[in-house]
Amino acid sequence: MKLNWVETLVMNNPVRAGLQRRREGPGLRGLAPGPTEGAATLVVGCGRGVDVEIAFELFKASTVTAIDLDERQVERARRRLGSRYGSALELIACDAAELPFESGRFGLVLDFGIIHHIPEWKKAVAQISRVLTPGGQFLFEEIPKSELDTWVYRFFTDHPREDRFNAPDFAQACTEAGLDLGGRIEPFRILVFNAFRGAAVKPE
Ligand SMILES: C[S@@+](CC[C@H](N)C(=O)[O-])C[C@H]1O[C@@H](n2cnc3c(N)ncnc32)[C@H](O)[C@@H]1O
Repeated sequence: MKLNWVETLVMNNPVRAGLQRRREGPGLRGLAPGPTEGAATLVVGCGRGVDVEIAFELFKASTVTAIDLDERQVERARRRLGSRYGSALELIACDAAELPFESGRFGLVLDFGIIHHIPEWKKAVAQISRVLTPGGQFLFEEIPKSELDTWVYRFFTDHPREDRFNAPDFAQACTEAGLDLGGRIEPFRILVFNAFRGAAVKPE
């Protein structure tokens, strides 16, 4: 589901970018069970492309394929990033629940808070597992159902209401998709909001 205008403003601004660079990115990096340097990386729900910069600069991805359902977000990323990463960056408008990539293509998948926007979210987790190479890593941060049910989220944002997940549900979906979480899932806070993050590995 695409962002409404409130969430678009909250996401696409320098404060959010600073938080992502200084706190969220390093937090995810710290959870990675293996090296990420040189990985062919998929960014799901790349927004205006700060995720892409983090993938290259912090995670040291060799290439980044970044997707977003919303063509306007992809266009914002295209404009912001310009030709900075040359042919190492590919930006595509598509649905994370129907990834148009061959199986086993990526060594790393990064999810900065997008899967809770997807009605058929378990399909997205299964797709992510499918496109990971054996030994590949899936690093995620997500907003739980308990937070989406608060009046602030309900009043100001648009999210699918049915079949949302808390951290244990997400962990189970990863396991059902064939990913090994190994207990690497934890709560954290983005300013005053509750979230969770973690790292799963596709077994060799
Ligand atoms: C909360 S924003 C996060 C954007 C970016 N990752 C960030 O942290 O700034 C969620 C993003 O997911 C995108 N999105 C929503 N549903 C999607 C789907 N099914 N597939 C891919 N992207 C999706 C939205 O368009 C939006 O850009």
